[in-house]
Amino acid sequence: MLSKRLLHVAALLTPAACWNTDVHNQLVFMAETFFTPDTTSVLAQILEPQYNGSIGRAAAWADAYAHTSEGRFSYQWHWIDTHDWAPHHCHLDYKSDCAKGGCVVSAIANQTGILRECIQQAMSGTILSGGTNLTCSYAAKWVAHFVGDIHQPLHASGRAAGGNFYKVKFGNVSTELHAVWDGFIPYYAANVSKPFSNHSIDPFFRSLLTRIRKDQFYEAPYMWLTCSDPSMPEECASLWATESNRWTCDYVYSHVHNDTDLGTDGYAFGAVPIVELQISKAAYRLGTWLNKLVDGVKADQLWRDQEILEL
Ligand SMILES: *[C@@H]1O[C@H](CO)[C@@H](O)[C@H](O)[C@H]1NC(C)=O
Ligand SMILES: *[C@@H]1O[C@H](CO)[C@@H](O)[C@H](O)[C@H]1NC(C)=O
Ligand SMILES: *[C@@H]1O[C@H](CO)[C@@H](O)[C@H](O)[C@H]1NC(C)=O
Ligand SMILES: *[C@@H]1O[C@H](CO)[C@@H](O)[C@H](O)[C@H]1NC(C)=O
Ligand SMILES: *[C@@H]1O[C@H](CO)[C@@H](O)[C@H](O)[C@H]1NC(C)=O
Ligand SMILES: *[C@@H]1O[C@H](CO)[C@@H](O)[C@H](O)[C@H]1NC(C)=O
Ligand SMILES: *[C@@H]1O[C@H](CO)[C@@H](O)[C@H](O)[C@H]1NC(C)=O
Repeated sequence: MLSKRLLHVAALLTPAACWNTDVHNQLVFMAETFFTPDTTSVLAQILEPQYNGSIGRAAAWADAYAHTSEGRFSYQWHWIDTHDWAPHHCHLDYKSDCAKGGCVVSAIANQTGILRECIQQAMSGTILSGGTNLTCSYAAKWVAHFVGDIHQPLHASGRAAGGNFYKVKFGNVSTELHAVWDGFIPYYAANVSKPFSNHSIDPFFRSLLTRIRKDQFYEAPYMWLTCSDPSMPEECASLWATESNRWTCDYVYSHVHNDTDLGTDGYAFGAVPIVELQISKAAYRLGTWLNKLVDGVKADQLWRDQEILEL
């Protein structure tokens, strides 16, 4: 069983620096299924027409942008480097770990604030239509991407630059631990032989949605939403990053070997439930986050209209 899966994964050698692009698309397709009609329609107004109203299709934009000279400044927004040493000591301190110029926690906070203003404009009808305000479409795309990244354990760990300098072998391929978590393990978990679609949800991710809805994780999904208030984005994003960082002690570095093949030594097998949990949390939290942002703006506007009527 293991080797059959491995042969499939070995065919998919996409080097990457974050959840692979297709995993980002899928994670946000999952999030879209939680959207209210208001969230769906306001995002469709904000995004550029090429995405046809789907933030899931736009979910990997941030990686491509970070690799352009124009977007170079946003490259470091994809992670937070902790100053701990997994697996012996795991600790995330937002204030001291977030680099000058931003990190994934501050970027979520910053772009969520910008997106709120954009939603206000869109809902009061003042936004330029069709994704022409790039500050707004970028904010939407960044939030969707970074909520994914922050749930990848190695995006919240400073050791070996998020595992990018930690050499390992997976399915006979020499790679880095970071890439193993970005792509090899998701493909292994889904037992797929080609990348996931970038325009519709894959059965593996659909099955995670079913498990969320049927409460079939070892943690009740409603617990994942304990901190999901976009008006306190630094607190929530720090908490999400702390959970990810915890996995680097509890599994990522405590079970890893650099002298055996991670595809066959049990490492990949043991990592599957972690990756499934983290992707599911990210999707459910992102959907909830954006709904609350839109609902909050709507409530404020109703309140303001009410006041105007009473004057
Ligand atoms: C764009 O979205 C609309 C409505 O959601 C759908 O009917 C149409 O097929 C989509 N077009 C493409 C090119 O995906
Ligand atoms: C916040 O967003 C603005 C606009 O994109 C950007 O100029 C600024 O550098 C960001 N700051 C951080 C800490 O992310
Ligand atoms: C785009 O949206 C931002 C954020 O709400 C706003 O500050 C800016 O004025 C808008 N730009 C245009 C040209 O409307
Ligand atoms: C891995 O490489 C070894 C030695 O090159 C080879 O014997 C083995 O068949 C390979 N395994 C897989 C799964 O490709
Ligand atoms: C993985 O997929 C292959 C081919 O699609 C299938 O033969 C194999 O049984 C699957 N393995 C598992 C563990 O589901
Ligand atoms: C989506 O996938 C298709 C087929 O793999 C590819 O040709 C296309 O460039 C991808 N689109 C984006 C935006 O990545
Ligand atoms: C494996 O890890 C050990 C201990 O951390 C290190 O000394 C060694 O160089 C590593 N081997 C490879 C091939 O990276």
